[in-house]
Amino acid sequence: MSVLSVKEAIKEDCQEIVDIANEVYFTTEKEFWKEGYYRISEKDCLKYISKGEIIVAKINSKVVGFVLAGPKSINAFEFSMLTTHFSHQKKGIGKILVNQVFENAKKEGFKYLEIEVLTPKHWTHSQKEFLTNWYTSLGFSFINNFSFESKYPTHAKFMKCELEFKLYRKTI
Ligand SMILES: CC(C)(COP(=O)(O)OP(=O)(O)OC[C@H]1O[C@@H](n2cnc3c(N)ncnc32)[C@H](O)[C@@H]1OP(=O)(O)O)[C@@H](O)C(=O)NCCC(=O)NCCS
Repeated sequence: MSVLSVKEAIKEDCQEIVDIANEVYFTTEKEFWKEGYYRISEKDCLKYISKGEIIVAKINSKVVGFVLAGPKSINAFEFSMLTTHFSHQKKGIGKILVNQVFENAKKEGFKYLEIEVLTPKHWTHSQKEFLTNWYTSLGFSFINNFSFESKYPTHAKFMKCELEFKLYRKTI
């Protein structure tokens, strides 16, 4: 019998999180990135874990999905890097993780929950189109867009095409 648990990540989860993140993003966003790109380093992952900012979904103690979530400003809580391993996608894990983030933000008294979706600036990427439609169906609204390199200048060298973030917000 498989048992799903959703809880705060511990340092022992770090390697699995880093491996899944780098595999899933390099594959899903293969048109975006040159060789050498990585989504998260072990050092950064351990930093987020120590701040209690990663929630993991595990099946029988094995990490199958995770999300990074924490305060962005006095009013806004944000999440990023929502990821489910390929072997477990479309089974409801992503939705469970977003719901957990929403509940945490609500409990802590934030007014908004925000997510920045990375998209190509000049063409449509089907997975990103699915994401923006999905977030809209969950009650998020488009707020604005801004360039990838304005937020992550050190990663700009890995870009294969122009990229931008689309900011979505949901009132809690
Ligand atoms: C986004 C992601 C985390 C969703 O995880 P998941 O565990 O498959 O999500 P769920 O099973 O809860 O599915 C959520 C909804 O999206 C739909 N869905 C999931 N993947 C889909 C896809 N590739 N195309 C179309 N619809 C899809 C599901 O049918 C479900 O629909 P419903 O709410 O109407 O029932 C996963 O696709 C992923 O890791 N993507 C790559 C990383 C990424 O781009 N993350 C987002 C960063 S902003």
